[in-house]
Amino acid sequence: MFMKIHLLRVGAISFALAWSTASIPGAENQPVYLDASQPVETRVDDLLSRLTLEEKISLIHADSKFTTAAIQRLGIPRRWLDDGPHGVREDIGPDTWNPAGRTDDFATAMPAGICLAATWNPELGYAEGEAIGQEARARGKDIMLGPGVNILRTPLCGRNFEYLGEDPLLSGVMCSGYIRGEQSQDISSCVKHFALNNQETDRGTINVEVDERALREIYLPAFKAAVQDGGAWSVMGAYNQLRGQHCCHNDYLLNKILKDEWGFKGLVMSDWDGTHDTRQAALNGLDLEMGTDKKYDDFYLAQPYLNLLKSGELPPAGLDEKVRRNLRVMIATHVLDGDRKKGSLNTAAHQAVARQVAEEGIVLLKNENQTLPLDAAKLKTIAVIGENATRLHAHGGDSSGIKAFYEINPLDGIVKRAGGKVNVIYSEGYRKDGGAELGERAIAAAKSADAVIYIGGLNHDRGFDCEGADRRDMKLPYGQDELISKIIAANPKTVVALEGTMVEMDLWLDKVPALLQAWYPGMEGGNALAKIIFGDVNPSGKLPATFPKKMSDSPAHALGNYPGTNGMVTYAEGLLVGYRWFDTKNIEPQFPFGFGLSYTTFKYSNLKLISGDGTNEVVTAQFEIENTGKVAGAEVAQLYVHEKNPALPRPEKELKGFKKIFLQPGGKQTVLIPLTRSAFAYYDPARKSWVAQPDSFEIQIGGSSRDIRLRDDFTLAEK
Ligand code: BGC
Repeated sequence: MFMKIHLLRVGAISFALAWSTASIPGAENQPVYLDASQPVETRVDDLLSRLTLEEKISLIHADSKFTTAAIQRLGIPRRWLDDGPHGVREDIGPDTWNPAGRTDDFATAMPAGICLAATWNPELGYAEGEAIGQEARARGKDIMLGPGVNILRTPLCGRNFEYLGEDPLLSGVMCSGYIRGEQSQDISSCVKHFALNNQETDRGTINVEVDERALREIYLPAFKAAVQDGGAWSVMGAYNQLRGQHCCHNDYLLNKILKDEWGFKGLVMSDWDGTHDTRQAALNGLDLEMGTDKKYDDFYLAQPYLNLLKSGELPPAGLDEKVRRNLRVMIATHVLDGDRKKGSLNTAAHQAVARQVAEEGIVLLKNENQTLPLDAAKLKTIAVIGENATRLHAHGGDSSGIKAFYEINPLDGIVKRAGGKVNVIYSEGYRKDGGAELGERAIAAAKSADAVIYIGGLNHDRGFDCEGADRRDMKLPYGQDELISKIIAANPKTVVALEGTMVEMDLWLDKVPALLQAWYPGMEGGNALAKIIFGDVNPSGKLPATFPKKMSDSPAHALGNYPGTNGMVTYAEGLLVGYRWFDTKNIEPQFPFGFGLSYTTFKYSNLKLISGDGTNEVVTAQFEIENTGKVAGAEVAQLYVHEKNPALPRPEKELKGFKKIFLQPGGKQTVLIPLTRSAFAYYDPARKSWVAQPDSFEIQIGGSSRDIRLRDDFTLAEK
């Protein structure tokens, strides 16, 4: 006899629900919706036909902070959602934002999204998604609330650390790999926040006015890639409004673009408390309401929606469509099947992924006179200075925070790597509300050492890299600018490593010989950083966003379009976000998009543009990269396109392809980057479509957006 066991979790209690086909009237065999050999749509149709009106309503809104109701008579288990992009968050609720207080909800803390983006390695995106998917299954989850792919429009956005930088192509490629990896584990990813949640200030109300081209070319492509290339089963709406309508029930974004144009078949959920109106929620593409600040029955898509359905004011087909999408995600992720993946937690493989993402995502920004790597055998005393050397970050960052199994901070990592050979002394140097004596002690420590490793930067406190608030400025907090200058004066052999997102550095950058951008490198971050500092790992990260010299250089601030006035923010810079602005306007950045140094050197040569057959790939850029230095290393070769006679103004250059190549010393590899017609296209608002017009283009290949090593012209012919 057919028999299935499902684990249902109610509150903190787990129990087994068993049912058999014998208990379902009229079914001699198993019902179609439970037959895993049937096509998903057939199963969805069958299950939909068995649901009552009230049961349908129960599937489209929450019944606790992170769950939806079970329907026990049909064996539909409670669905568990959880944050987020950097691992499986601790359990919350059920009815408050407080932690549930469990002792079994630890997880592997991956580096922050911006660090993953800085690896420029899509395979690592896949590996991270897969590991998080395995942990999500082991923790009994169904839908994971990530990745976050909102474009970095202003350096001040509090959630830039969670996202994948300023470039639509890089964000799209990195998130697609992540989603495929995560969803391979019978978990649905939920890409967020759709769309234009580019600031935290006034995030629940701000109305974004953006022109159609910028919307299509800058802010939507990563979501499109998530859905079409990554195959994401869920999408989360954003808190803000677009053109006067909240994004969680925005007809244009959800119905017209996501579902009609892109063919998205999965479910759209609201951000928590991002739903504001029953009719709009019913009609404008929302399929699952989460986190509204009301009793669950009073959610907009609960009793109020039921009333409008019963009175005939809203059509039943709309409800069926929402339920269908929810069921499709359940069935596609094998929620109803006995052979669903079981998952695993904190395995050596997961730890290795966390470490590798950090190793490949930390960016070497400056290295004069080969200051790095340090040679532990040649040093007697190293002074490690800075609060971030010992501060733990994994649990911070609000919804993306993780209750980590452990966290190797930078000091731990350095002591572990070099402590047996070198005397490592530590001085905090600065702290919020710390007194002058902290700095004095650190300067004394710096003087007494052969080398200094300064570990500073930002943290997840409110006002820095955090949710619900933006940064006030781009400055280093707690007097760090002054402290760094004094430490360099005390000991010129000072390596600075900064955690967090981008900061202004002009007060000390020219004096410091070596600089690393370490982001939030996750629970293996200290090990990764130490391996880079002492040369076990050759850095290969590249910036996924331009570092401006000062805030007022970056477009939103230069044009005075942040954070908006009278509830509205106008993206007047249009397409010119990030390097598109700096390059087009000829503004020198502190560090350009795509930049990152290595302990070795790479030579680019022999660019050939090989014509394709014109149907799919129109041209392939072929070139060689050689490791001309003494150590193994990896280079991210970037391909930019510049159109010579654009019909509409275009940015100076746009990233259209990249490849990360690992090479032994002396090693040489031929690299192929194929380009389709779409690589040459812009969005034409008049024609409401993408246009790749016949024209001459310059194809530029290099190690960053400002380090173009090879270039050649390509003529795009009429189709
Ligand atoms: C955040 C989302 C998150 C949700 C659930 C919201 O405040 O914006 O990113 O997934 O909370 O924690």
